[in-house]
Amino acid sequence: MSDKKEQLYEDILRFLEYEKEVYGAFTITEADEINHEEVKTESKPIVEEEAEGYSTKVSEEPTSLEEKLEACSSLKELRDLCKSAKELKTDLENTNLVFGVGNPNADLMIIGEAPGQEEDRQGEPFVGKAGQLLNKILKAIDFDREDVYIANILKHRPPGNRNPNPDERLRSLPYLMRQIDLIDPKIILCVGKVSGTTLLKKEDSLRNLRGQFYPFRGAELTVTYHPAALLRNPQWKRPTWEDVQKVRKRYDELGCKPS
Ligand code: URA
Repeated sequence: MSDKKEQLYEDILRFLEYEKEVYGAFTITEADEINHEEVKTESKPIVEEEAEGYSTKVSEEPTSLEEKLEACSSLKELRDLCKSAKELKTDLENTNLVFGVGNPNADLMIIGEAPGQEEDRQGEPFVGKAGQLLNKILKAIDFDREDVYIANILKHRPPGNRNPNPDERLRSLPYLMRQIDLIDPKIILCVGKVSGTTLLKKEDSLRNLRGQFYPFRGAELTVTYHPAALLRNPQWKRPTWEDVQKVRKRYDELGCKPS
C-alpha cells in the first residue's frame, strides 16, 4: 500500500473513532431497523384523507332519512330514532311514542292504524278495549300476545282518534318499513282498512281486500276487520274468525313458530 493510501486509511479510522466517542457505537442492530410495514399502515389513512380532502369518518355519518334508517340494525336503535323524529308526530301535542311491542323475532306481525288514548298513556299498542279483543282473537287461534309483534301505521296518537291522514301515513311509512324489515315476519296481519290500504297502496273496501294473502317484502300479508269495528259491528266477527283461522293455517304450513 502506498504511503498516501496508508495515510488516508489512518485519517478515516481516526474520524470514525472520533464519531464513536461523540455519538456512541453505530452498529445497526435488528431493533434499529425500520419497520416498513408499520410505516406503511400508519401513514396510509392520512394520505387517503388528505387526497380526498375530507375525513373518511365524516363521510360515513348517515345524513338522509334513508341512510339513518338503514343504519338502524336493531329495534332499540330504530326506537331511539323514532323518539327524536318530529315528522312522526300528529297535530296533537305532547303525545308519547307508541313504537311497537312483542317478540322481536316473531313470524307473525299485526299492524293496526294508530294509538288511541290508552295506548298513548301506556306507550304500547292495543292495550285499550280493542286491544283486549285482539288478545282474545289471538288466544282463539292459539297465540299469546308475546308470540307475535304488534305495531301501528302511526306511532303517535291523532287528535280525537280520527283516522290517520294520508300525509301522516306517508311520513310514518319509512319507519314502519324498517321495523318490518328488522322483525322480518313471515306473515303480516293488517287489522282494519287503514292498515290494509296503506301497506298495499290500494284503495279498496275491506270486504274486497280480506281473505287473500299478498306478497309483501318477503312476507305474506293479509287483511281483516279491526277489533274496534267488531265491537260496533258484531256481524263481522264471523268473517274475522274465518280470516284468522286462515292465518293460523298458513302460519303452520310455513313452519312458523315463536323463536
Ligand atoms: N287501534 C289501533 O289501530 N291501534 C291501537 O294501538 C289501538 C287501537
